[in-house]
Amino acid sequence: MLKKLVLLLFFVPAVLLSAGIDINSNDVEIKLMGDLEGRSIIFKIKDKDGNNIGVFKPTSGSTFYRGEYASYKLAELIGLDIYSPSQFSYMTPQTQKKVLPMLEKASFNKKSYEPEYKQNMSKKEENRKTIIEELKRNIETEKNIDGVLKPWIDNLMFYKPLGSKKGFKLSRIYQYLKSTGPQPPHSTFILSQCTEIFETKGCVEGWSYKDQVAQDISSILVLDAVLGNSDRFAGGNLHFTSVDGNVETKKGLKIFKNARLFSLDNGAVLRPNDRTGFNILKELGITRFVKAHIEKLQTLKDTDEAKLRKDLGIGPEEFEIFKTNLSLTLAYIDELKTKHKEKIWFAN
Ligand SMILES: Nc1ncnc2c1ncn2[C@@H]1O[C@H](COP(=O)(O)OP(=O)(O)O)[C@@H](O)[C@H]1O
Ligand SMILES: [Mg+2]
Repeated sequence: MLKKLVLLLFFVPAVLLSAGIDINSNDVEIKLMGDLEGRSIIFKIKDKDGNNIGVFKPTSGSTFYRGEYASYKLAELIGLDIYSPSQFSYMTPQTQKKVLPMLEKASFNKKSYEPEYKQNMSKKEENRKTIIEELKRNIETEKNIDGVLKPWIDNLMFYKPLGSKKGFKLSRIYQYLKSTGPQPPHSTFILSQCTEIFETKGCVEGWSYKDQVAQDISSILVLDAVLGNSDRFAGGNLHFTSVDGNVETKKGLKIFKNARLFSLDNGAVLRPNDRTGFNILKELGITRFVKAHIEKLQTLKDTDEAKLRKDLGIGPEEFEIFKTNLSLTLAYIDELKTKHKEKIWFAN
């Protein structure tokens, strides 16, 4: 019996363990994410031994915390498991009191930043000031601040070639995203990225498969269209991870032996009158899709609206945006189906 229990505990995925993070307890330490890491105000959560265990992202700048959750949930509903697990959370007035001095001390206006990051950082500085005001108000009126809680993702790297419009059409994967192009083979594809800004600095190689990468990016872009994601192509908003922790370091190069694309930052979604996600799907000419995911979206479109809205954790206004985007996206794919028939689907 004990052996079974131990086995069971051993196999609980890291994802579920995040459910156990209590950011308002004295057992965790809260820090700020590194200066150049994103524009939103993100709190890094550490355990007593100083290990990173999660992040807490309230609404700030381009982050809408409910949108982060809705994106994760929608991906889960269609059976795509490469979105950062997310759950709703909050900081109590006491916790806000604890983190306020740290935010007040921080500054994102440093002279030492390279010119290319200055604009981002001045936005982040604005976000810092807004959050400080919000925390002060909350502390005074004894209110919580809501946000999304995500587990810490180890072995993570952003992937600029597919995460920026400039690189996208030049990628070797691009041809497979066209119904007129060849089907992607099940052969190795190396996701390669170096960084000088994010920890850990250096280069990472992620060994992946062409068909897997093509299918994953196609479905991410479909979900971006449905969620109205307006910030996929910032360069640092598409990532890859090691799916099994099988990682080797050789002369400073990190190798993820089994990697997949990963959608970590899903905050810039569900804004009124923002069709960026859908427009990009069309502009990039994505015309090949994962059939099972599109069929799932179709099923969702026909299910009980109240339940779906509750599942996605969004308000009525955001749900209207979601519904409009979903109809547009499915109608677009349907049109392509009439034209290109079965070629719009990935073969396996
Ligand atoms: N859960 C996490 N685990 C590990 N690193 C994270 C996590 N969340 C954020 N980061 C790091 O912070 C960076 C910025 O996060 P992101 O969610 O993209 O914020 P922003 O909305 O400001 O762009 C990421 O590229 C990554 O390096
Ligand atoms: Mg980001």
